[in-house]
Amino acid sequence: MHKPRVYVTRQIFPDALDLIEKTAELEVWVDDEPPTPEQLREVLADADGALINVMDRIDTALLDAAPPLRVLSQVAVGLDNIDIPDATKRGILVGYTPGVLAKATADLAFALLLAAARRVVESDKWVRGGNWKIAHHPMFWLGAEVNGSTLGIIGMGGIGLETAKRGLGFDMKVIYHSRTRKPDLEAEYGFEYAEMDQVIANSDFLSLHVPLTPETHHYIGEKQLKMMKKSAILVNLSRGPVVDTKALYKALTKGWIAGAGLDVFDPEPIPADHPILSLDNVVVLPHIGSASNRSRREMCLLAARNLVAGLNGERLEQCVNPELYETLGI
Ligand code: DGY
Repeated sequence: MHKPRVYVTRQIFPDALDLIEKTAELEVWVDDEPPTPEQLREVLADADGALINVMDRIDTALLDAAPPLRVLSQVAVGLDNIDIPDATKRGILVGYTPGVLAKATADLAFALLLAAARRVVESDKWVRGGNWKIAHHPMFWLGAEVNGSTLGIIGMGGIGLETAKRGLGFDMKVIYHSRTRKPDLEAEYGFEYAEMDQVIANSDFLSLHVPLTPETHHYIGEKQLKMMKKSAILVNLSRGPVVDTKALYKALTKGWIAGAGLDVFDPEPIPADHPILSLDNVVVLPHIGSASNRSRREMCLLAARNLVAGLNGERLEQCVNPELYETLGI
């Protein structure tokens, strides 16, 4: 019988590839440099299924160029690179990988929060730069105290929840705003729900965990940054465009806020000469929220299982558009 054709747009964990290979004829993009949009259209042209990366733009032009596509499996929880309504209209099942990356991403949210608060990167550079001449001084390298402060979470999904739980371990008060209020979490963990402006104004650390949608584009702009405490630190591991970068630069240079920890940028990669990279009160990472060995392997395996299930005419473990099941008779 004819095996379905699968294209995998990046190198992934070998055991995930093995899993796909049992069901499909497999091709993998092996260059570290990702495919351009034209190359992506070419390689996906005759694929029945594709395992894709957050940076692959799956738009109408791509979908038009890939008529056999039946399953798209994203190795990520964020979906802003995919035109979901168009894929759904065409009967293409879309899988994704929530859950398995939440704890690793929350760990990194805390790494950024702590690093920005206690000036870890800045002081590391200072020591390596040969500047440490006085062994100890009571007034040197003062930073923000994390324990006992208020952690504001915008977006109480899986990653927001894990980040909030880590806050409890640091004796922080957790306040949050989310599209849907979560009374069960409030009861279980003592989190307090508040309107978005209240969370912004009252947080010592404000951590963003919303998906990028037209509504959340520049969700944090000048107005919001001016509402924050001057001593506050902003942490962003969601998507770069959720924050207005120009406004953030102003906030960090004019003292509207004290610092930021950023894992995501607008654009990505952020150019090395971008003004925000010249600031000492910003800690930056290259979009590595979920990049622990365990989490990335689990993401690849889940994405592979989603893909294989869809190709076999079965329900996906994690499906973005399950409304298709009825139409597809699965
Ligand atoms: C996600 O899952 O959306 C991350 O940004 C990619 O690892």
